Amino acid sequence: MRVTVIGTGYVGTVTGACLAYLGHRVTCVDTDETKIAKLRRGESPIYEPHLLDLLELAAGRGGIDFTTDLRGSVAESDVVFIAVGTPPLPTGEADLSYLEAAARGIGAAMDGSRYRVVVNKSTVPVGCGNLVETLVREGIHEANPAGHREIRFGVASNPEFLREGCAAADSLYPDRIVVGAADGRTLETMRELYRPLVAQGFDPPPGVARPASMGEVKLLAATLTSAEMIKYAANAFLAMKIGFANEIANICERVGAEAPEVMAGMGLDSRIGAKFLNPGVGWGGSCFGKDIRALLHTAREYGYESKLLQASLDVNAAQRQMVIQKLQEKLFILKGRTIGLLGLAFKPDTDDLRDAPSLYLAERLSQMDARVKAYDPIAMPVCREQRPDLKIRYCESALDLAEDCDALVVVTEWRQFLDLDLRQLAQAMATPILVDGRNLFSPEEAMAAGFDYTGVGRCPRSRPAAARARRQAVE
Ligand SMILES: NC(=O)c1ccc[n+]([C@@H]2O[C@H](COP(=O)([O-])OP(=O)(O)OC[C@H]3O[C@@H](n4cnc5c(N)ncnc54)[C@H](O)[C@@H]3O)[C@@H](O)[C@H]2O)c1
Repeated sequence: MRVTVIGTGYVGTVTGACLAYLGHRVTCVDTDETKIAKLRRGESPIYEPHLLDLLELAAGRGGIDFTTDLRGSVAESDVVFIAVGTPPLPTGEADLSYLEAAARGIGAAMDGSRYRVVVNKSTVPVGCGNLVETLVREGIHEANPAGHREIRFGVASNPEFLREGCAAADSLYPDRIVVGAADGRTLETMRELYRPLVAQGFDPPPGVARPASMGEVKLLAATLTSAEMIKYAANAFLAMKIGFANEIANICERVGAEAPEVMAGMGLDSRIGAKFLNPGVGWGGSCFGKDIRALLHTAREYGYESKLLQASLDVNAAQRQMVIQKLQEKLFILKGRTIGLLGLAFKPDTDDLRDAPSLYLAERLSQMDARVKAYDPIAMPVCREQRPDLKIRYCESALDLAEDCDALVVVTEWRQFLDLDLRQLAQAMATPILVDGRNLFSPEEAMAAGFDYTGVGRCPRSRPAAARARRQAVE
């Protein structure tokens, strides 16, 4: 099929690459000329593992190109995806201005030569399916006042569930595909588009292996409104699950339990599952906070106050602040101290800094007159560019970061940090304090390397007693 994807961000570029890899002919459109120029040169505007290879393979299979010309691309397409940003407004509401511009532009570019499906992949509040339909219709009407009746189209909602850092695998081997559609023809078009993905008959691209347990993918057909709610409900639940793990970890710290052991015990329950149970400095990223706020806003519009959603936001904010408290407990005075942030990206394997806990910590520590240093293997150039206001001294390496620091804070659990020589880091510091905000390191190893170690929900002091108890139990 001929497909247009509007928006070449984290979602649009990966979606376009995967659809072309599956054999569709894809054109990716963006208003940002710099991004389009980069993609045309064979460069990726974002850091996402396997994306460049996938784009190259996609070009040789279905074919993929990049343009700023929405009109030309829509005119030739059967399916048009909207994957533009829906960032939060100060009120918590989703900013729909990009979505509105895209939908109107699609309408203005349509003619009567074929039936088209406009698919919304951006995360949007309930009711946006109807809004997109109205805006496309208005666009058609403005551009074709006389012939607008012959131009026919359907609207679908197809929420995206990919995770940055493993977006290629998530898109090629999804847990499910959700399609909200108001009519049978639109749903059939979407089934046709996703047939190769559902059947999983394609050869996996190198480096993006198909999970061994993978069978056919379930395509869940729903109403437009349900599809929109599914996305918000899923994100709100995942954020709540992490928040719950953090709450339990905070209680663990007080009673002398080991949160990782508690989470392992909980996660083995098949009703709960082990994923998203890692306590830490709180979640971040472009979606959870934005989507929960948008859902709260929608609920309020309907006179409903969701206490659980609000609590999720509050618990997460408190979790970030907990890092400052831990530093205060260790150092007492933060003024004039040097704190090193190990990791800036909101999670490993991405350069995305949207709502990253590191930004909160850098800001808060600077307000408290502490000096902030940071090292991240990928996200430092993005941070420099996007947040020139932050007073951060960027470092060449983790060792450079540790040099003369009063404390190190693990903010992002990059795998390569596990290879660091902890003894060397501890020796380079003014005071070897490690606040492991991701429970990345073993407390025993960190302490053996000379660190005063604090994790999240971990009680190193109670560990000798626990080990003794385990030994006695074995004996
Ligand atoms: N990033 C994720 O992990 C993720 C996961 C699931 C869903 N989502 C949702 O997907 C949507 C896109 O997210 P993203 O992270 O890819 O955003 P992004 O900010 O990385 O990319 C959006 C792109 O859209 C472009 N754009 C804006 N208006 C345009 C227009 N009128 N015409 C053409 N291009 C336009 C921008 O220039 C930008 O390149 C959001 O609604 C987000 O909530 C994101």
